[in-house]
Amino acid sequence: MKNVAILASGGGSNAGALIAAQKAYASYRVELIIVNVEGAGALTVASEAGVAAILLPSRGVTREDHAGEVLRAIGARTIDIVCLAGYTRILPPSFIASLSRPLLNIHPSLLPAFPGMHAQRKALEAGVRWSGATVHFVDQGLDTGPIILQEPVSVEAGDTEESLSARILSVEHRIYPQALDLVAREQYELRGRVVALHRSAQPAEIRSLPEK
Ligand code: GRF
Repeated sequence: MKNVAILASGGGSNAGALIAAQKAYASYRVELIIVNVEGAGALTVASEAGVAAILLPSRGVTREDHAGEVLRAIGARTIDIVCLAGYTRILPPSFIASLSRPLLNIHPSLLPAFPGMHAQRKALEAGVRWSGATVHFVDQGLDTGPIILQEPVSVEAGDTEESLSARILSVEHRIYPQALDLVAREQYELRGRVVALHRSAQPAEIRSLPEK
């Protein structure tokens, strides 16, 4: 059983999905939610679920100082894996280097398409027929880390940013717990940039990457 900390800034629906899914996945338990925005819905999600939450406001705090506060909060508990779930503050390279635990993120597009903010709006503006959701390890770049799971979502005629975001979000809520479970059970190998999933460990609907 791996202990998980979630970093969230917004509504916290992915944090809620990760907590809800721990009933189905015995491999992890959410122990802590760190929130950087006062009044964020993620704080309500934490209190309703009975999960410890810490508010570390980042406004007016330098990137390095904020990252240091987050590292200390994580280090004060037994945390094995850290999940970013709509965390809007960019964490500096020093954070990633010092964390020394797997760091995951969820992104509302089929990376490497549309990294950064407003991924759903960029997908609509580009006229793509498919977008989707991606769970990936975090590296030093912006949404560039090795991909753990991703799933396409079709773009429909008449879609708005809101309607596309909502359909992508429901996929996010399913694949983020699946990906976290795979990482918690260490059912993968990192081969360069490729996350090779162990065939035996996969739910039927997840296809493995080709063996090298
Ligand atoms: C999600 O779409 C996530 O992919 C993106 O930010 C949004 C967070 O939503 N990084 P929530 O706070 O989990 O509801």
